[in-house]
Amino acid sequence: MIDNDTLSAIRNRRSIRNFTSEPVTDEQVEAILEAARWAPSARNSQPWDFVVVRDDDRRSDLGRILKGVTFSWAGLAAAPVMIVVSVDHTADPAHFVEDGAVAAQNLCLAAQSLGLASSWAGIFSHRRTRNRAETAIADLVGLPGTHRVIAVVPIGVGKNEPTTTRRPLAEMVHRERYSVQPDSRVKPQAQPPASSEDGTRGFAAAAVVPRQTRPGRFA
Ligand SMILES: Cc1cc2nc3c(=O)[nH]c(=O)nc-3n(C[C@H](O)[C@H](O)[C@H](O)COP(=O)(O)O)c2cc1C
Repeated sequence: MIDNDTLSAIRNRRSIRNFTSEPVTDEQVEAILEAARWAPSARNSQPWDFVVVRDDDRRSDLGRILKGVTFSWAGLAAAPVMIVVSVDHTADPAHFVEDGAVAAQNLCLAAQSLGLASSWAGIFSHRRTRNRAETAIADLVGLPGTHRVIAVVPIGVGKNEPTTTRRPLAEMVHRERYSVQPDSRVKPQAQPPASSEDGTRGFAAAAVVPRQTRPGRFA
C-alpha cells in the first residue's frame, strides 16, 4: 500500500486523554495553528478564532467545564496546551460547523506529525444558541457573541498508548452504488486490536461495531 508521512500521521493519530507534564513549545503550537489556518472552509470564509490556553488556572477551569461534557475532563486538562476552536457563525451560517471541525482535525493531525498527542472535547451541540458548557467556555476565554465553540483540543505528550481501531475499509467503500456486500477490491487493512484499557469507556471502546449488528440503518 502507498504510504508517506502524511498518510502515516493520519493513520496513527488517536484521541489521547492523558498527558505527561512535558512542555509543548510555542514553536510547536505555532506550527499546529498554521496547519489549522490552511484548512478548507466554505467559500473560503475562514471563520476561525483559536484561543490557546496555557495558564494552569484557566486550564483547570476549562477542565471543570468539560466535566459536564466528557468523563475524561481531568486527563484532558492535564495537557499543557488546550486550544479552543471557535468559529464566527455569522460568516457562513450554513457551514460553520464543518469549517470548525475540519480545522480542529488539522490541529490534531499537525500535532501528530510533531510527535504530540491530542484529543477532542466535543462542545458543539446543534442548537441555535450556546448550551451551558459552550457558554461557560465562551465566557472563560472572552469570545464575542458571534462565535460558537466547536471543540476544545488538548495537546501534549501522551501518557497512554492509542487503543481505538476502525471498521474494515471494505465495509465503508462502495463502487458506483451503495451495496451491503463488502467491497472485494479493497485489500484487508492492518487492524490493531480494539481495547478499552485507557479507561475511556464509551468514547473509544465502542470504536468498532460490525455493521451487521448495528441498530438502525445497518440492521
Ligand atoms: C465531534 C466529536 C466529538 C468528540 N467528543 C469527545 C468528547 O467529548 N470526549 C472525548 O473523550 N472524546 C471525544 N471525541 C473523540 C472520539 O471519542 C474519538 O475520535 C473516537 O472514539 C475514535 O477514536 P480515535 O480518535 O482514538 O481514533 C470526539 C470526537 C469527535 C469527532
